[in-house]
Amino acid sequence: MVYIGVDLGTSACKFLLVDETGRVCRQVTQEYPLRFPHPGWSEQDPGDWWSACLAGIPRLLEGLDPATVQGIGVGGQMHGLVALDAADRVVRPAILWNDSRTAAQTDYLNETIGRDLLSRCTGNIAFAGFTAPKLLWMRENEPELYASIRRIMLPKDYLVYRLTGVHATDYSDASGMLLLDVEHKCWSRRMCEICGVQPEWLAALYESWQPVGTLLPEAARALGLPGTVTVCAGAGDNAAAAIGTGTVGEGRCNISLGTSGTVFISSDTFRVDPNNALHAFAHADGGFHLMGCMLSAASCNKWWMEDILQDSDYAAAQAAIRPEKLGRNHVYYLPYLMGERSPINDVNARATFLGMTMDTTRADMTQAMLEGVAFALRDSIEVARSLGLAIPRSTLCGGGSKSPLWRTILANVLGIPLDLPVTEQGPGYGAALLAMVACGRYADVAEVSRAMLKIRETVEPDPALTALYEARYAEFRQIYPACKDLFARLGRA
Ligand code: XUL
Repeated sequence: MVYIGVDLGTSACKFLLVDETGRVCRQVTQEYPLRFPHPGWSEQDPGDWWSACLAGIPRLLEGLDPATVQGIGVGGQMHGLVALDAADRVVRPAILWNDSRTAAQTDYLNETIGRDLLSRCTGNIAFAGFTAPKLLWMRENEPELYASIRRIMLPKDYLVYRLTGVHATDYSDASGMLLLDVEHKCWSRRMCEICGVQPEWLAALYESWQPVGTLLPEAARALGLPGTVTVCAGAGDNAAAAIGTGTVGEGRCNISLGTSGTVFISSDTFRVDPNNALHAFAHADGGFHLMGCMLSAASCNKWWMEDILQDSDYAAAQAAIRPEKLGRNHVYYLPYLMGERSPINDVNARATFLGMTMDTTRADMTQAMLEGVAFALRDSIEVARSLGLAIPRSTLCGGGSKSPLWRTILANVLGIPLDLPVTEQGPGYGAALLAMVACGRYADVAEVSRAMLKIRETVEPDPALTALYEARYAEFRQIYPACKDLFARLGRA
């Protein structure tokens, strides 16, 4: 028997075919556009996600007996607002997790409604990328479209809806809406009142591994699959990635170096960061997690290489960075291309190169960009450490983890060993493991997650280099506070 794991990403949808032993037999990627129609806006057409499935799943199945497919699990980009009308039409393009148009609505929630109340109701405060501020933005700016809303859903839930006809979500992904009482795992009536959300717009809540249904006849026909295939509720991409990297139970850490960069710390019990810099969310294993999310991680590399240098040879650009330069760069980079979420929560923050001189080379700036992302991830690790959480090591996944240089920089900036799983496509793999539990192949998520984890390499930090980076990080930490007021003024201009 085989299982399909889907990762509904921000630049592409990735499909994995995984057998019962956890081996990835095949993978297929379907890209789609990401649109920035105004500065700070970030949108996608949910129809493009579904078209990616209609094209990608049949490609994944080429030459295979479709009757061997038992289940599908979907992990997806979190927080995006998909709104449907009474005829199940998408009322506007989805507003994504890295969209920062909701500064005013986020301020209203945090300042007027108040952080204390938000944290009491949901375990979290408002961040511009979360779903609830997007609904307030629609209510104020697109009242006619808002009035036509009959259902709201998250990106991966839209795919599950098209696959099964069931309006479902799971606790890990629902945690990022700011409408869920995360600790008690139910919708917060108070938050729904504050945001004008009708209870009937909301999805039924499931644990990530629970089956929500089987394929609709028309979906089965279009995908070339039997109608008996089970679809589970799935998970937000970070929780799904954590399942794929063995990050379950108490006190384990996974770092994802994808379009966004996340530090994900699993726990058996619900815990809140008193300053709410880290998100307090449910996990796909039935427990909880704390998470720091930076909005531009591997996307800084893509922007620098492709948009600025117009060069797609990433390996050659990194080969030009001499090993003796590590920990000694005089150039610094703030990675805030889309504003920033964790831990600074500032939509006005901007990316910055600092410290260039006439002898600065292109390689120094590429190095600064890779280091700036690593320093910003350390900012979230420091918040976790300040809460008394020991983070002695971490797994690493996501596209950026393919770069040996970036892995070395990160291990030394954080001063911890980084374990690289054999399968580094975290979310799609974790989603396939959830489907195995949904189909009864494994008793629970912790069991399948631990059974499948295979580490192919560990990147050990070098004490001498860690000491050099310690000093660089101390400098890095001073740059954002020095620029903060200027960023706010530039953001208002
Ligand atoms: C997490 C977050 C991102 C997206 C990226 O809070 O916003 O990691 O899920 O897909």
